[in-house]
Amino acid sequence: MTHRRHKRAQFSSKFGVIAAAAGSAVGLGNIWKFPYITGQYGGGAFLVVYLIFILLIGMPIMLSELMVGRRARKNPFGAFQKLAPGSAWKYVGLLGIMAALLTLSFYGVIAGWSMEYIILSAKNAFNGQSPKQLQDAFEQFISSPIEPLLYQIPFMIFTGAILISGIKNGIEKSAKIMMPLLVLIIILLDIRALTLPGSSAGLEFLFKPDFSKLTGDGVLAALGHAFFSLSLGFGILITYGSYISNENNLGRTTMQVSFADTAIALLAGVAILPAVFAFGIDPGQGPGLVFITLPNVFAQMPGGVIFAILFFILLTLAALTSSVSLLEVVVVYFSEELKIKRRTAVFLATTIISLLGVICSLSMGSFKEYTVGGLNFFDALDWLASNALLPIGGMFISLFVGWKLGADIASNELRKGGHFPHWLLRAFIFICRYIAPVAILFVFLNGVGLLKF
Ligand code: TRP
Repeated sequence: MTHRRHKRAQFSSKFGVIAAAAGSAVGLGNIWKFPYITGQYGGGAFLVVYLIFILLIGMPIMLSELMVGRRARKNPFGAFQKLAPGSAWKYVGLLGIMAALLTLSFYGVIAGWSMEYIILSAKNAFNGQSPKQLQDAFEQFISSPIEPLLYQIPFMIFTGAILISGIKNGIEKSAKIMMPLLVLIIILLDIRALTLPGSSAGLEFLFKPDFSKLTGDGVLAALGHAFFSLSLGFGILITYGSYISNENNLGRTTMQVSFADTAIALLAGVAILPAVFAFGIDPGQGPGLVFITLPNVFAQMPGGVIFAILFFILLTLAALTSSVSLLEVVVVYFSEELKIKRRTAVFLATTIISLLGVICSLSMGSFKEYTVGGLNFFDALDWLASNALLPIGGMFISLFVGWKLGADIASNELRKGGHFPHWLLRAFIFICRYIAPVAILFVFLNGVGLLKF
């Protein structure tokens, strides 16, 4: 029997590549974490450190992932197998795929909450509620057995539906629509926030440098967040890299995606903190910031209903483009390694992840008493993926490019579609060999609690 040779799918345009990769990068992390940790660890002071890490460590690792992917044109597991046959490197790829699967399980739950809040906003449900009532309502919602699933499952089906249509017509096309929309919404929210009386206190919290608040923990948080925010360490960008044509210049793509991710994080900070401070509210962080503090802000803000709807649409879109990338890693692994059709792989991956997500969701209510190391299932997955798998994955990817793939192949990949100065190549390899692995090791040791400042 003869095999029909399939041409591997590719993104069709440079803008499509950037929209898809930036879509993966811009997610819940930019909106609910970045503004808060920046303020907490000294505003402008933290920002300087964060930017240095993006430039010095995040961008080289992004480049490494894209390079490995494009070189091998395979899923992360197959890519390491192809570039380093017979070695154990393939397990680095497998680790990333596992991490993506686990992360998406809880990411989908949060995205579901965001969808529910679009509807609550439209019903004007925050109006006249005290902060305590908003908090109780949120806690009751997330711990109820069925309601969150009515959003999480459709969200996952929706993510799967985008992937069914493939790379060009699914991922790329949806990102080309959703990313500009996301930027538009965030700018509208920025204008609203900045025109509120008293908004400058929020800008001060976000930008005014206070080096006394920049602790060792803050420095490590900056590096850890640079990783999470750029979607590094899980092989996502190995997967996306495998769809990038040889006409694209990977160095330029890396710069554009990193810039977009950072710019959107800053715009999110400017949309959120000035509004929170204008009403004299303590920001809080994470889920509390977006699902309790912000509804309180919207309830008091002129035009609050509209801006609340826009905000939760923004959050859902940001989550969706990231979920698409997380699911794609698992799908392409299933389809290439188990040799099954893409449709079947989408169905399989979506089902497994949705079921894990159901357990995550229930772990906040009905299954609360089942814990791992004192954490419920939801928090345990978050902890495992963000504090352990992500730095381990990132560290191995940089070691792989620095020591195994080598400068010749790197230089060949980097020169495609443009040029890459020789000194920068030397710097890149040096970072991959020594600087990035050591820096990431510190983040890992701190994250798992073996190193404390
Ligand atoms: N970067 C996304 C955010 O900021 C989250 C994310 C999507 C991610 N894909 C990832 C994080 C892969 C690590 C690895 O929310």
